[in-house]
Amino acid sequence: MSADPVFVEEGEVLSHRKFPGGQYRIRLRTPRCAAAAHPGSFVHLRCNSELLQRRPLSIMLADAREGWIELLYKTGGQGLTLLSGAEPGSRLHSMGPIGHGFSLPEARPIVLLLGGGVGIPPVLFQAQRLAGNGKWSPRLFLGSELPFPFTLEMHGGENRLRCAQRWGVPSHLASNAGLEGCYRGNLTELAHEWLAGLPRERLPEVAVYACGPTPMLEAAAVLAAEFGVYAELCLEEYMACAVGGCAGCTVEAHTPDGLAMKRVCVDGPVFPASWIYPS
Ligand SMILES: Cc1cc2nc3c(=O)[nH]c(=O)nc-3n(C[C@H](O)[C@H](O)[C@H](O)COP(=O)(O)OP(=O)(O)OC[C@H]3O[C@@H](n4cnc5c(N)ncnc54)[C@H](O)[C@@H]3O)c2cc1C
Ligand code: FES
Repeated sequence: MSADPVFVEEGEVLSHRKFPGGQYRIRLRTPRCAAAAHPGSFVHLRCNSELLQRRPLSIMLADAREGWIELLYKTGGQGLTLLSGAEPGSRLHSMGPIGHGFSLPEARPIVLLLGGGVGIPPVLFQAQRLAGNGKWSPRLFLGSELPFPFTLEMHGGENRLRCAQRWGVPSHLASNAGLEGCYRGNLTELAHEWLAGLPRERLPEVAVYACGPTPMLEAAAVLAAEFGVYAELCLEEYMACAVGGCAGCTVEAHTPDGLAMKRVCVDGPVFPASWIYPS
C-alpha cells in the first residue's frame, strides 16, 4: 500500500469546460487532495453516482490555498462520457492523491517534459512545480491530434501555452493533424531535434519526464537511451481498486534487483524508463 495518505472527499464541481474532440477540463474542490497532490499522482473518481467502478485521472493542476484540483480527460467509454455530464455545483466521490509521482531532478537542471494527448496533465503539473525557482529549466514538448485544450499564444509563428508562458516555461507543440503553429510530426521527434542541438557535454544535466500513449512512452525511452539521459515514465494501466489490493495493474519492471512485478497504482504510476524499456 502507498505510504502517503489517500483522502476520500465529495468533490464539488467548480467548473467543467468542454473542448473540441470530446476533451474536458474539470475543476473539483477537494482541499485535502489539493494540499497533498504532486505531479504524476492521480485521483480515482466516481464518474456518476450510478457507476460503481471508478476511473483513474491524473492531477493536472492543484491549488492548495484555494483547495481545488483540475483534471483533463477525453471521452471514449462509458465512465468518462458519464463524467462529462457532471454539472457545476454537483459532487463527485474522489479518492486521492494516489501513487508515486515524478522525482525532483536534483542534479539535472535541464528538464524535458514530454506529454501526449491526455498524458499532458502530469507533465504540465511537473512544469509548474519546477518553474521559477532558478534551479531548473523545464521545457515542455506536447503533442496532440486534437486542438490543444489550452489557451495558446502565437510567438514567432509558433503556438505556445499561455499558462506555461506565465510560468516562464517554453512550450513546443507538435501534431500530425496540421494544427496551426505546431511542428508537423511527433513530439518525440521535436524533442530529438532539441537534444541533438545541445552540446554533448551538457547531456548529463538532462532529465526527461514523459506521459502519453504507449508508443509515445516507448519512443521517449528510446530517445533517452540514445542520448544517454535519465528518464521517467508515467504509465496508464487498467485499474480496479487503485490502492494496491487487487494486483490488476501489474507490469514487468527490470529493477536493479532483477525482474519484478510492480503495481502501477501504488508502486507507480511513475517508473524509471529503463525499468520498463531496458535498452
Ligand atoms: C494513473 C492513470 C492516470 C490517467 N490519467 C488520465 C487523464 O488524465 N486523462 C484521461 O483522459 N485519461 C486518463 N487515464 C485513462 C483513463 O483512466 C481511462 O481512459 C478511463 O478509465 C476510461 O474509462 P471509460 O469508462 O471512459 O472507458 P471504458 O473503455 O469504457 O472503460 C472500461 C474499463 O476499462 C478501464 N480502462 C479503459 N481504458 C483505460 C486506460 N487507458 N487506462 C486504464 N484503465 C482503462 C476503465 O477504468 C474501466 O474499468 C489514466 C489512467 C491511469 C491508470
Ligand atoms: S488497481 Fe488494484 S492493485 Fe493496482
